[in-house]
Amino acid sequence: MLPEPFNAPFKGRSLLTWADYSPEEIGRFLGIARQAKAESRRGETHARFLGKTLALVFEKRSTRTRCSFETAFGEEGGHPVFLSTDDIQLGTKESVEDTARVLGRMFSAIQFRGFSQKHAETLAAYSGVPVYNGLTDSFHPTQALADVMTLEEAFGSAAGRKLAFCGDGRNNVARSLMVICAKLGIHFTVVSPKALFPDGDIRALCAPFAAASKAEITVGDDLALVKGADCLYTDVWASMGEESRKAERQALLAPYQVNEALLAKTGKPDCIFMHCLPAIKGEEVTHDVFEGTQSRVWDEAENRKHTIKAIMLATL
Ligand code: CP
Ligand code: NVA
Repeated sequence: MLPEPFNAPFKGRSLLTWADYSPEEIGRFLGIARQAKAESRRGETHARFLGKTLALVFEKRSTRTRCSFETAFGEEGGHPVFLSTDDIQLGTKESVEDTARVLGRMFSAIQFRGFSQKHAETLAAYSGVPVYNGLTDSFHPTQALADVMTLEEAFGSAAGRKLAFCGDGRNNVARSLMVICAKLGIHFTVVSPKALFPDGDIRALCAPFAAASKAEITVGDDLALVKGADCLYTDVWASMGEESRKAERQALLAPYQVNEALLAKTGKPDCIFMHCLPAIKGEEVTHDVFEGTQSRVWDEAENRKHTIKAIMLATL
């Protein structure tokens, strides 16, 4: 069992974005995740979610996020219920506020994956139970925690390291990485065409976090910015819901593909490659880099489960 002081400060809290958490709190989630991973490696079983229920509300598809929540919760004795938009009304025939109040009467917590960050906020405001953002158009915080865990495993610690995100700098993954890196003192560089630079709002949000942690946040369109990076990170060029923009993105982002030449530009032989997955090999990353010795994508995917379990252990 986790010692009570470890999880008490988080009880009942939602995770909508890491902007709502202090660096110390994020560090404690990472500590719980390391503990959950060690337990899993030792083959230990626990029943810390016995008698609890989790609503898994999905408006978009998922492999890693759904499976992480569902297995992490179920193997600890909890009862997860998968609800796609084919199953429930969410903002169509029933308002999000009303659905939230019903789910809050029946479930211990809610995971939401969808389009609107506002929907995640409304679920949290009206349900009265913790809501976990499993990806919206704006943020993907559970992914970012697994990414930091993976960085820590690769380098011993993440603060002071440089992560360069190459691709659609406006997307949910880039935005969440910017927040968590700014909070934790990880230098974060977005390398993308100007048309896909992160919005001013996210940069303004992160500026005070970065000032406090001494993280350097850089945005630019010059590939030379990857110099000194300890990690090259990329994501699909067109996120879920943007399928109609695929051709436009391919034209804009082709020069930003993560390939051996870009890895070499970091000047760091131990630079690792990360990707939230799913990946489209041949687009945002070459097959060689994806399958190469510097790739950490499977550790990163596995860490989704341990970090998601940690988030639920801490908040339930
Ligand atoms: N990285 C991630 O969120 O994967 P899924 O879309 O498969 O959940
Ligand atoms: N940016 C991607 C992440 C998938 C995990 C998307 O939103 O589709």
